[in-house]
Amino acid sequence: MREQWIQPILDEAAKNGLERTAGVYPDTGGKIVIDGKTVLNFSSNDYLDLSHHRHVMDRSREALDQYGIGSTASRLVTGTLPIHEELEARLAAEKGYPAALIFGTGYMANAGTIPALAGRDDLIFADKLVHASMIDACKLSGAKLVRFTHNDASALEQRLEQYAGAAGRKLIITESVFSMDGDIAPLQEIAALAEQHDAMLMVDEAHSTGTFGPNGAGLIREYGIEKSVTVSMGTISKALAGFGGFIACSENIRRLLVNSSRAFIYTTAPPPAVIGAALGAMDVLEASPNLGNILQANSNYFRTMLHDAGLDTMQSESQIIPIVIGDNETALAISQRLRKEGIIAAAIRPPTVPAGSARLRLSITLAHHVDDLERAAKRIISAVKN
Ligand SMILES: Cc1ncc(COP(=O)(O)O)c(C=O)c1O
Repeated sequence: MREQWIQPILDEAAKNGLERTAGVYPDTGGKIVIDGKTVLNFSSNDYLDLSHHRHVMDRSREALDQYGIGSTASRLVTGTLPIHEELEARLAAEKGYPAALIFGTGYMANAGTIPALAGRDDLIFADKLVHASMIDACKLSGAKLVRFTHNDASALEQRLEQYAGAAGRKLIITESVFSMDGDIAPLQEIAALAEQHDAMLMVDEAHSTGTFGPNGAGLIREYGIEKSVTVSMGTISKALAGFGGFIACSENIRRLLVNSSRAFIYTTAPPPAVIGAALGAMDVLEASPNLGNILQANSNYFRTMLHDAGLDTMQSESQIIPIVIGDNETALAISQRLRKEGIIAAAIRPPTVPAGSARLRLSITLAHHVDDLERAAKRIISAVKN
């Protein structure tokens, strides 16, 4: 009985409508069949509807057949296969950087990169809403963490000026499309500030990879600011429908990470089937460069319907559309009601989002056709308003 301390914590979470459980779903993607009924899933990050794409699955299977199940060693021992290098070369070229490095997950890409760039004597300037994986990485780095108001370049500038005389390296971190708000960072202004203050800049493009920019290369590429963004981070687990994370960077940063990033060195190389799937997803992006544009046009259409009905979609400008409810229990009740009406819209509650801003977080995917979106908008508006 050394576990008595756990029950009160669980009871408190349950009392506040904050207990989390992992529901089980029979399939993946934006449209799934549950008990014989087709359900619209607005809580999947399969933005481009690639999770069951034939070519992506074929390339995954080919890699599985050729190399077997696991890579059987870490990258620096014998785990690096030709397809790891092929994928890295392709990611680097797509993102417009000299090099790229794959990690086991997006979480690990952040956890493995930030502590290699900044340490105990350094400063990290982080947007207030950056993803938990970036915050954990900052803690791991031991650097002094300075937060700035969300998406506010002038607040960042003030912070940089405040620490202008500080010794040590400076690193600014932000996301391009924010994961819970769906809004877009003022990247060009932030990149200019990074140049001006001689700070490194790392941008998490987890939700803009595949969904924005030429061939889905993301917003850094779209704005042409690769030279001012030291590290472009991305994940394969969202629009690319598979699993894994990566960074695009200079050759030197890649070499530094290969030699010092613990999340790269001390773990098994990503398995062949996962890498094959990522290559397949990149083939699709190359062959159909318009997918991101279609996704954004559909998302705009959907958001406008919600907005016109008076729903608060915050500053969303992407395929991620929050509907702010506020109270945890109400958000949960609306989510449960929608579920009965064939719509999955997860209620996102603190600590994932700030207290008092519980919300439905909707992800639009290419599995949702215009008539699906129209039907869903009607049901969501009615559920939120009544
Ligand atoms: C902004 C952001 N960064 C990083 C991650 C982590 O990516 P992954 O799911 O590949 O670990 C996520 C997703 O959870 C995310 O939303």
